[in-house]
Order: sequence, then structure tokens, then C-alpha cells
Amino acid sequence: MKIIVIGTGYVGLVSSIGLAELGHTVFGVDKDHHKINTLLKGQEPFYEPDLGRLLKKNLKSHRLFFTASLAEVINKAEMIFICVGTPPKKDGSADLTYVKQVAQDINKYAKTGKVVITKSTVPVGTGQMIEDILNQKNGRRFFAVSCPEFLREGKAIYDFFHPDRIVVGAVKESTGYKVMNLFAKIKTHKIVTARETAELIKYASNAFLATKISFINEIANLCERVGADVEEVAKGMGYDKRIGPAFLKAGIGYGGSCFPKDVRALRQLAGGSGYNFRLLKSVIEVNSRQRKLFIEKIKRVMGSLNQKTITVLGLAFKDNTDDIRESAAIDIVKILQKAGAKVKVYDPEAMVNAKCLLHKKTVFCESPYAALEGSQAMIIATEWPIFADLSWNRVRVLMKKPVIFDGKNIVDDKKVRKLGFKYYPVGR
Ligand SMILES: NC(=O)c1ccc[n+]([C@@H]2O[C@H](COP(=O)([O-])OP(=O)(O)OC[C@H]3O[C@@H](n4cnc5c(N)ncnc54)[C@H](O)[C@@H]3O)[C@@H](O)[C@H]2O)c1
Repeated sequence: MKIIVIGTGYVGLVSSIGLAELGHTVFGVDKDHHKINTLLKGQEPFYEPDLGRLLKKNLKSHRLFFTASLAEVINKAEMIFICVGTPPKKDGSADLTYVKQVAQDINKYAKTGKVVITKSTVPVGTGQMIEDILNQKNGRRFFAVSCPEFLREGKAIYDFFHPDRIVVGAVKESTGYKVMNLFAKIKTHKIVTARETAELIKYASNAFLATKISFINEIANLCERVGADVEEVAKGMGYDKRIGPAFLKAGIGYGGSCFPKDVRALRQLAGGSGYNFRLLKSVIEVNSRQRKLFIEKIKRVMGSLNQKTITVLGLAFKDNTDDIRESAAIDIVKILQKAGAKVKVYDPEAMVNAKCLLHKKTVFCESPYAALEGSQAMIIATEWPIFADLSWNRVRVLMKKPVIFDGKNIVDDKKVRKLGFKYYPVGR
């Protein structure tokens, strides 16, 4: 099948490469000329394990093409995926400007009869909105289908080929199965359903995962008051098959390009439909309070942060990505700087992106050890495995004061305490 993918960001590029690897011919389109030129050279525009290898492989086998001109390629394919961003508006609802723009472009250039599939995360009713834009001209018939994306950054390529499920929502079941057939080689649970249901499955999934995180963070805060250990509590809960162990990791709260915006968008969506989704209000509040509580703990231990040298290890919103959108780590660096601290930072992949966002006085270091030299405290803000496996004897010598604030609970507490570190995790 010949396919167009519009938007070559995290979702669009992974989908383009994945669909090409499944044997389809894919034309990736992006309005960002720089990104297209980077891709045409076989270089990945962002960090994601295995992305570069599969990009080069599929370019070479002529199954994957990139262009900045939608008009040039649109009539080469029957199926068109929309993978553009849906950032939050001020009120929390999803901004559909890019999605509408793409629908208008398709309407302008495409011949009738095409299936337009939305992978972007969009509110219920967007499929109908797209179809209305596409079918504006008399006698033309396009079919808008929802196929929400569930990939995890850092594991995106793996997730494309091993998803827990594929969901397709269409008005006509036969159109839904036609789209599902694109993924015939992938063995997993496959759900063909109504378009509104598919759109809601995506928001409900992300909101539920965010709820699990906020729940375990509340338990962590309680643990600190009653002398319990949240890691053991989570383990004890997670063995219960009705609960499961995933997303029961206490820390400084969720971030990234999806959870914060999708939880807020679902709350707005509910509000707009006349329903007050009370639970989500608390999920959001708990999450934003979690980083503040962590900073309060640091201040309680260290006193004034003015002129103190503090190292923040990790800037990405999670490990295995260079994505810093809504990263708790970035927030923490900014709060420390506001309190007068001198902040040294290190991240294996996210330094380039972080340089665009952080103040010039931030000291970017070449290794965790360079970042820890002369430091009065270390904060672990991203769960990169290398931060759990530091050479602690070396760190002990490098740091001015051996203090660890572990915002991700990844360090072996017994080991570092034995070496004389003061260790402050979350909820233990
Ligand atoms: N990143 C994730 O982990 C993830 C996971 C699941 C779902 N999603 C959803 O997928 C959507 C895309 O997310 P992303 O992280 O890939 O975004 P992104 O910002 O990385 O990429 C979006 C791309 O779309 C391009 N674009 C915007 N308007 C365009 C237009 N008119 N024509 C051509 N290209 C255009 C941009 O230049 C950009 O390259 C969002 O709705 C997001 O919520 C993201």
C-alpha cells in the first residue's frame, strides 16, 4: 500500500519508518524544511533507540521518501496519516490548528476517495470535524478514521512492532478493517470500533496511567509521614494482577509531551460535555505539587540554596529520549536557580534541547562526574540507568558534600549510605 504520513515528529517519523518496514511505500511530509533535509541525509532529527538504523535501511530500499511538499505526493497514495502536534491551549483543551490546517491542505490538493487517518491525539468529534472539512466541495467523499498512537518515547520503535493493541475507529466498519489491514503483519489485540470510541480510548488510557502515577505519589507522601517504604508498598500492590506493577513508580511526577496535556484535555473535554471529571482535577494537582514537595525537602535539608552549588542529573522527561517537553527536571533547575543556587547539569541526550530552554548561567557538563565536582548536593531528576550505576567511591571524592536527592528512587540506598552519603529518596 502507498501511504502519506503528514508530520515527521516522534509519532509521524516512527510511523513512517514502521509502515515502510512492514513493506508499504511511505511518503513522509513535514512543513519543517530543516527536518526534511536532515531526514533525506539519513540522519535522525531526534534521539530514539534504533530509529537511525531503520531510517537508513528503508531509505536505501526505496520504500521511504521525504518531502516538504504535500501537493507533490498526495495523489500517489490512497491512505493519509495525520501525525501533527496537538499542543494545549491556555485553558487546557487541545489546540487543533495544525490538524485543521492539514485537513484544509488535503482538501486543496487531494483527489476524492482517500482515507484520512488521525494518529495525533485529538478530542472526541475531531474525526467528524476533519470529514466535514474534507467533504466541503460538492460530490467529493473522503473517509476520516481514528487510529490513536500509544507509543512510549524511548521505546517507540519497539512499541510500533509490539504494541499492546491497535485501535481503529471508523464510521463504516469496512473502512476500519481496511486501515487495520495495514498492520496485518503485527500480531496483537486489534479493535475496530466507532470513531468517537477510538478517540476516547487514547485519552482514557493516558489519563488512567497518569492517575496511577499520582496515586502512588500520594502513597509515597504518606509513607514519609508514617515510616513506610513506597517501593515495597508498590511491589506488594503490583503483584495483585488486578493492579499490575506498571506505573507505580513514585517520584517527582509525570511530565513529557503527552500525559500533562492529555489529562488536561480530557478534563476540558468532559467539562465541555457538561460533565465535571473530579478525579482528573486531583491527578493534575497532585502532579504539580509533587515537584514542589521535592524542592521543599531539599530546602529543609540544605537550608538556603543561595550560592550553593547543586548538580541536576537528567534533563529529559524520562530516560532514553532527548525530549524535554514538560520535563520535571527542567522545572527543578529553574526553581533552584530562582532560589540563588549555582546549577550544574548533565544528561546523556537532552543537553542540546535543554540549552535552548535554560538560563545562560546553567553549567552544562560533559559527564556526570564533571557535573558532580565541587557540588554540595546531587539531584537525580531522570531515571537514566547510568545514574544508578555511578562509581560512588569516585563521586564521594568529587563532591564537596555527599548528599543525594533521588527524585526517581533508582539508587541502591544501602550502598550509598554505607559510603557515607546522606540519601533522600521519595517516599522511603
Ligand atoms: N510523542 C509521543 O510520545 C506521542 C505518543 C502518542 C501520541 N502522540 C500524539 O501525536 C501527535 C504528534 O506528537 P509528536 O510528539 O510526534 O509531535 P512533534 O511536535 O514531535 O511533531 C509534529 C510534526 O508535525 C509537523 N507539522 C505541523 N504542522 C504541519 C503541517 N501543516 N504540514 C506538515 N507538517 C506539519 C511539525 O513540523 C512537526 O515536525 C500529538 O497529538 C501527540 O499528542 C505523541
